[in-house]
Amino acid sequence: MEKYMTSPRSVRGHHVGLAIIFVCLGSFLVVFTDLHGISYKNLLSHSVSRPLPPHALNALERCQSLHRTPQVSLDFTKRSRSDRFVEGTKPILIKNAKVWTGGHNGTEVVNADILLDNGLIKGLGVYATSFVKSYSSPLTVIDANGSWVTPGIVDMHSHLGDSSSPELSGASFDDNSPHGPILPWLRALDGLNTHDDSYQLSISGGVTTALVLPGSANAIGGQGFTIKLRPTKERTPTSILLEPPSQLNLSHQQDYLPWRYMKHACGENPSRVYDQTRMDTVWAFREAYNEAREIMFAQNSYCDKLGAGDWKVLEEPFPDSLQWESLVDVLRGRVKVQVHCYETVDLNDIVRLSNEFQFPISAFHHAHEAYLVPELLKTTYGGPPGVAMFATNARYKREAYRGSEFAPKILAQHGLKVVMKSDHPVLDSRHLLFEAQQAYYYGLPENLAIAAVTSTPADILGLGHRIGYIKEGLDADLVIWDSHPLSLGATPKQVFIDGIAQLDNPYVLPKPNTFQYAPIVPDFEKEARESVTYEGLPPLGVSETDLGVIVFKNISTLYIPINGTIQSLHSTENENVSPSVVVVDAGRIVCYDTMNLDSCQSFLQSSNPRIIDLEGGSISSALVTYGSPLGLGEMESEDSTMDGDVFDPLKAGVPSVMGGDGALVHAADGLQFGSRSALLAYRAGVTAGISAPTHEGFYAGLSTTFSTGASHKLAPGALIQSTNALHVSVRHIGSPSVSSQVSALRHMLLHPQGVTEAGKWLRSVIEGRTTLVVDADSADIIATIVLLKKEVESHYGARIKLTISGGLEAHLLAKELSEAHIGVIQVPSRPFPTTWERKRILPGPPLSELSSVAYLLSYNVTVGVGIEEAWSARNTRFDLGWLAIEGGELVSKSDAIAMGSTNLLRLLGADAEVLNTMDLVVTSGGDILNIESKVVAIISPKTGSINFV
Ligand SMILES: *[C@@H]1O[C@H](CO)[C@@H](O)[C@H](O)[C@H]1NC(C)=O
Ligand SMILES: *[C@@H]1O[C@H](CO)[C@@H](O)[C@H](O)[C@H]1NC(C)=O
Ligand SMILES: *[C@@H]1O[C@H](CO)[C@@H](O)[C@H](O)[C@H]1NC(C)=O
Ligand SMILES: *[C@@H]1O[C@H](CO)[C@@H](O)[C@H](O)[C@H]1NC(C)=O
Ligand SMILES: *[C@@H]1O[C@H](CO)[C@@H](O)[C@H](O)[C@H]1NC(C)=O
Repeated sequence: MEKYMTSPRSVRGHHVGLAIIFVCLGSFLVVFTDLHGISYKNLLSHSVSRPLPPHALNALERCQSLHRTPQVSLDFTKRSRSDRFVEGTKPILIKNAKVWTGGHNGTEVVNADILLDNGLIKGLGVYATSFVKSYSSPLTVIDANGSWVTPGIVDMHSHLGDSSSPELSGASFDDNSPHGPILPWLRALDGLNTHDDSYQLSISGGVTTALVLPGSANAIGGQGFTIKLRPTKERTPTSILLEPPSQLNLSHQQDYLPWRYMKHACGENPSRVYDQTRMDTVWAFREAYNEAREIMFAQNSYCDKLGAGDWKVLEEPFPDSLQWESLVDVLRGRVKVQVHCYETVDLNDIVRLSNEFQFPISAFHHAHEAYLVPELLKTTYGGPPGVAMFATNARYKREAYRGSEFAPKILAQHGLKVVMKSDHPVLDSRHLLFEAQQAYYYGLPENLAIAAVTSTPADILGLGHRIGYIKEGLDADLVIWDSHPLSLGATPKQVFIDGIAQLDNPYVLPKPNTFQYAPIVPDFEKEARESVTYEGLPPLGVSETDLGVIVFKNISTLYIPINGTIQSLHSTENENVSPSVVVVDAGRIVCYDTMNLDSCQSFLQSSNPRIIDLEGGSISSALVTYGSPLGLGEMESEDSTMDGDVFDPLKAGVPSVMGGDGALVHAADGLQFGSRSALLAYRAGVTAGISAPTHEGFYAGLSTTFSTGASHKLAPGALIQSTNALHVSVRHIGSPSVSSQVSALRHMLLHPQGVTEAGKWLRSVIEGRTTLVVDADSADIIATIVLLKKEVESHYGARIKLTISGGLEAHLLAKELSEAHIGVIQVPSRPFPTTWERKRILPGPPLSELSSVAYLLSYNVTVGVGIEEAWSARNTRFDLGWLAIEGGELVSKSDAIAMGSTNLLRLLGADAEVLNTMDLVVTSGGDILNIESKVVAIISPKTGSINFV
């Protein structure tokens, strides 16, 4: 009978009477349902003579729970054992932790011990040795030595398992159905692959829980499910679910109703896929919600009649629809609706929809324009949704064009809940914490930044009663960090899920004490204000150009490019070294001195120089970006803004008007200047880009070096080097085969064709003047290229210059590459097994002792690093800083800067003149790799100026 008891709390208004009747009716029915032929007359002394229809019990049950909403019982946290407890898991005491609990709005930090048992956090406090000795079962004691401990990271937007990695055709379409814009009946769970390589990788970044959502190709893509990432002994998708909704197993009675999750998407994605407009998409939503509302009304009316004693309604089944039931549940407030929605127009559409059909929105995802319309969000039915964002991933399409790095800060200032999410594998969720670090760098307060990947998503998911906080009674999901969680490169020392340690023999790097505090981040108030004033498109040009003498003082470090290498000329990190003074005149350093201005006097006599205090800042080589289409357009998903892909002679002929197969495209001919990603890169110290023509197949063309800060190609210093290197790709693309691609490359190199453009540049490659860049990741392909290089060199009796770009498996051939004098540009700097040919990555700490970059350097391979998407060019300095941090002794800061500047230039065939006229970057508050610093100015020898940004 218990199951028919409805707590009065969850029954509203006139339905109270109904509930009481049901309790009685329920008793009778249960008594009699085993007996066939029982009629209403017998049952209720009523005058109806038909037998009890089989659906009656269900109808009564459904009416009874009609207004039940997800609600955790008050004594949930008094549970003694987690439903996810794994038999045999030993209790653990983590001693001496610095615990970020999530309490007090994310400001509570306590020095304490944490007791884990039965899959739960059993206590937070100080436990005496006697307690350990007398504990009911033997306690494993882990001394955290004062390490930071946070709740496990909660990723509120993931496609882990559904869009699984490495991507294979048999598995990569499992997060979207092509069968229509409205599919609320689909369930992400039904495609959840448990063999995704990402589970272990993401855990190694501290992620313990993820909401796996269907993709965004459909307006209503289906139901999402919350999972815990750890492997289970059952090995099944079902067994990794956290609080599965009751619809999955009707015989499993819970003492409360778990939340359900639903994905919606508006704007470009559903429009593109279904060849429809925004108007069509919104109509599709309204039509679907109207359908659900009709069903809900029919249910209400059915139950109202029953409540009023009209038993005849039981002759009809309870009105329902397997297709629409989840949407009816949305209207009944039982579903956390997650809406992929970017632009103001779309946000407004969905807020309007929520008010028309009266259902709440749990969170807007991506929401690149949410910070421009916070008041709109507050008018959402049922209260403002959370906003789940990327930190700096933007501008890849119109919807994302006005995205701002200051959005988290601005939204928080408006009292909206801020979540940072991965959209894994769009961003590798292993590095979700980096999103929080960037949000913090750009102004989100410390407490909210940590909460943005822990307690805030846990609360928004309706799971704050068991995850997202460190509190007695919650699930034992937590991370011991090697540094403050907001310090760049923070890496887990250990991760616990349900009280089970997830990392076997983790590699832990020693980190300096300064990493144990929240970084002191720069002031971006003005920039944040401007992003709103200018509706997301603040001016990004240089604020001032100075052609005269400027003195920079209070400089901690100098990393200067000399002859194609980075030299650390000065560092206060060494003992007894005082901050330096540097004099710059007409775009060149003319003098530097560690103590005072005396030795620089001669340069200062003629003028009254401007003196700028860098507060422990730095002057270093400017950075170079490579690997993305930066410089070849504005928004990667908008063809009308991009140079476009080249013709590929291996796929289809190249038009004869271009010279046929002998044509070779110069990226310089397609350069576009002034894109927002380029200007943002410039402001972040990435002043040059090298891009090859964009291509889908084997053939690319000639790369070019350009200034990211120039406004057009004819501006002084805009085109830095018109042709760099000759680029081809050798990848698994089906047809043509890898062996065909290699065969083409061999043929091109051994038999360069006559007077064609291709012939000319191939001869230059053969003669060792032009570098050949082969884009490849697979160690097998790279090995083949190593052999081909030898073959070509022995054929001509001369050495050629060859660089591997991509190179995620190159570490497997570190020795051979070093011996063959082949350098590697690793793209991206933090490896991820996107595709099969990238499966054998070296993941770096805590999973492997060395990062792949450190490993290659240890074999004296010349290494550069690149990016895949133009928006991330601005993050180069953090990518490099991270490599230096996780490279330990093997990767100095000079090495790291070289990988993003001089090494890249050398590996991509830069002229000596380019190497000798590199820009310099002036930072305040720290060096360019540091998350505490801010770029102040660019010193440009090419234009003889200092440009303030
Ligand atoms: C939570 O912290 C933020 C930022 O530190 C602050 O603006 C906000 O007012 C706090 N909220 C509460 C409820 O204390
Ligand atoms: C704490 O220090 C001990 C002794 O150096 C070491 O064995 C242990 O791994 C450290 N624990 C953590 C979590 O760093
Ligand atoms: C459904 O729930 C029942 C009762 O809790 C349980 O015994 C059974 O194993 C569950 N079935 C599945 C497939 O999870
Ligand atoms: C730069 O390299 C060239 C050739 O290797 C060498 O002659 C020159 O001295 C170097 N200059 C400096 C400043 O190291
Ligand atoms: C790398 O170069 C250094 C310095 O030239 C040398 O001592 C070391 O043996 C080299 N390492 C390898 C693996 O070749």
